[in-house]
Amino acid sequence: MEIGIGLFGLGTVGSGVVKILQQNANQITQRTGSHLVVRHAVVHNLNKPRTGFTQDFPITDNPEDILGNDEIQIVVEVMGGIDYAYDIIKRALMAKKHVVTANKDLIASRGQELAELANQNGVDLYYEAAVAGGVPILRTLSSSFTADEISRVAGIINGTSNFILTQMATNGLTYAEALKLAQDKGFAESDPTNDVEGFDAAYKLIILSNFSFGVQPVMDDVTITGIADLTDSDINDAHGFGYAIKLLGVAQRVGNALSIEVSPHLVSFNHPLATVNNENNAVLVNGESVGEVMLYGPGAGEMPTANSVLSDLTNVATNLALNTPGRPFNTFNQDLDLAKPSQ
Ligand code: NDP
Ligand code: HSE
Repeated sequence: MEIGIGLFGLGTVGSGVVKILQQNANQITQRTGSHLVVRHAVVHNLNKPRTGFTQDFPITDNPEDILGNDEIQIVVEVMGGIDYAYDIIKRALMAKKHVVTANKDLIASRGQELAELANQNGVDLYYEAAVAGGVPILRTLSSSFTADEISRVAGIINGTSNFILTQMATNGLTYAEALKLAQDKGFAESDPTNDVEGFDAAYKLIILSNFSFGVQPVMDDVTITGIADLTDSDINDAHGFGYAIKLLGVAQRVGNALSIEVSPHLVSFNHPLATVNNENNAVLVNGESVGEVMLYGPGAGEMPTANSVLSDLTNVATNLALNTPGRPFNTFNQDLDLAKPSQ
């Protein structure tokens, strides 16, 4: 079976998706029973050079080339931003196209509404790449913790800020130099304020809280402090005392309440999170039965993030082959107080 893909966005992540689809085409076909073919890509700037893959599909700036194309069964949204991406995904779902996105801003803000729309239309909506880049945390939470009760989910979930803190602590780069390098490597958001002020980590923590605790927090439920005000001497002094400074997202259940916070922490060199450096991420999950589990890996970047998009794409392809599309990513709801810690 041939499955048509329409790509919205051909930047860092979109290019990686095309490369993997082209380089690993035979393996993907063998494992899913389907041939995944990019039929169109929509971009912003038609004059930008595109390299690193064979351009065997048209590139356009007209969304109708994808949304109105009956030979496209799956829409991949890797543009970013909220309003336009929402409009595209909503229209794709209503046209009964499956959707894969890496967009944490959108999913954290309007994911519930879009999941309901996917359900009503009998199509899949997956977004593994939205949290922790290449680390397969969402599918792990939705499959391996079904029978366990999670008390805490915590970790390093923004690659750019972790890259900056690592480079300042170990390579003597200034904050501005380290941020520029993270942007050049494709780790940072188009507006890196989201990375360094903790908003990107907050979006991811909202999604993690949804999968771990069955709640739907909004940004106002999250206490957020970023890394932008940290100085060289804060970082060096901490090192002198045996600590790394790490931006952590922590969602923790206390009785019937859940506290959700993103902030810099002093992490002892003895703790596993202290060894998570550069763009790598790590998520610690505490379950009543299993104890503590840590998932670690690249939290940003072209190929690791594209691999997570591919894991969603191959799941949709498998669902289609088994004739079971419309499989929700997360269905679990729970009533917890989303109390901010007292100031
Ligand atoms: P880029 O800025 O590299 O790429 C964005 C792409 O979307 C570009 O191809 C751009 O077109 C296109 N685009 C932007 N706006 C429009 C528009 N209005 N109409 C049509 N096309 C548009 O972003 P990334 O690839 O880094 O990120 C994409 C998404 O993936 C974001 O949601 C991000 O948060 C998420 N993500 C990114 C990760 C990373 O490591 N980079 C990791 C995990 C998630 P053009 O090329 O013409 O400019
Ligand atoms: N800008 C994000 C980060 C990309 O640095 O973590 C991955 O979501």
